[in-house]
Amino acid sequence: MRWRNYVIGCLVGGASLVITCNWVHAGSKTYVGSKKCAECHEQEYQKWSKYTKKSHSFEDVMKMKHDLTPEELKSCYGCHTTGYGDPTGFRDPVSTPDLKEVGCEACHGPGSAHVESNSPADIKVKITMRDCERCHNAARVGNFGFKPLVHAGAH
Ligand code: HEC
Ligand code: HEC
Ligand code: HEC
Ligand code: HEC
Repeated sequence: MRWRNYVIGCLVGGASLVITCNWVHAGSKTYVGSKKCAECHEQEYQKWSKYTKKSHSFEDVMKMKHDLTPEELKSCYGCHTTGYGDPTGFRDPVSTPDLKEVGCEACHGPGSAHVESNSPADIKVKITMRDCERCHNAARVGNFGFKPLVHAGAH
């Protein structure tokens, strides 16, 4: 799909462009945070919080905080938080605490419409390697010598 390519291109390009691109695909859907999903998808939430590094991706960045300038720190958020750059996504850990990790909506997209309707049509279900490559770019995947399987790192 064309818009998907567009989003990937922009995210790799830089944080200021992310805002523009997210308007394109997010529309009226807003980010609600993983705790909201847990109300109905307890199993996925438990697995995500117990077994994935994504569930503490923000703390991992914070451990390196003292070595980074504020600008450098912000450059981490695009991949280590949920929805950073989107007006309804992560801003800071105080005002958006439920979006500070790489949560459900980092892969499934903003969930507000689905939370209302409970319809699979309102949430992204088909997730491909391209969605992963937004954060796990080719160089990174190569460096760490793993080819992420679609189900790994999620739940
Ligand atoms: C109020 C309850 C509720 C909340 C909150 C909720 N969901 Fe759902 N979700 C459902 C129901 C009901 C279905 C449909 C299940 C079915 O048809 O098998 C569903 C289906 C899904 C599916 C598709 C499953 C499939 O096999 O087609 C995904 C993915 C999903 N939800 C993700 C999320 C995410 C991510 C969140 C948080 C942003 C979330 N849900 C929040 C109730 C909820
Ligand atoms: C929004 C960015 C983002 C997206 C999208 C993303 N990941 Fe990740 N993923 C991360 C980050 C960040 C980490 C490392 C977190 C840490 O250790 O602090 C990670 C860690 C992992 C790990 C390490 C093992 C573990 O226990 O977590 C695997 C495997 C993984 N991701 C697979 C995937 C796959 C497969 C997809 C696509 C379906 C995907 N990721 C999508 C950001 C992302
Ligand atoms: C382009 C996306 C991207 C950006 C930007 C990014 N990271 Fe990551 N980071 C990842 C992914 C994906 C992983 C997990 C897999 C891997 O290591 O390749 C990861 C893993 C980590 C880990 C390892 C956690 C562990 O022990 O397993 C730390 C620490 C980390 N990142 C810190 C940072 C910091 C600090 C910044 C900003 C200066 C940053 N990252 C920017 C994608 C990113
Ligand atoms: C790293 C990306 C990623 C993250 C983060 C993630 N998911 Fe998923 N999710 C997937 C993939 C991939 C599938 C499988 C889709 C398919 O079968 O084609 C999936 C499937 C699902 C399904 C359908 C039933 C199932 O288990 O196969 C539900 C419900 C769901 N996810 C909810 C959640 C919730 C709730 C969270 C947060 C706690 C979450 N997901 C976080 C990638 C992710």
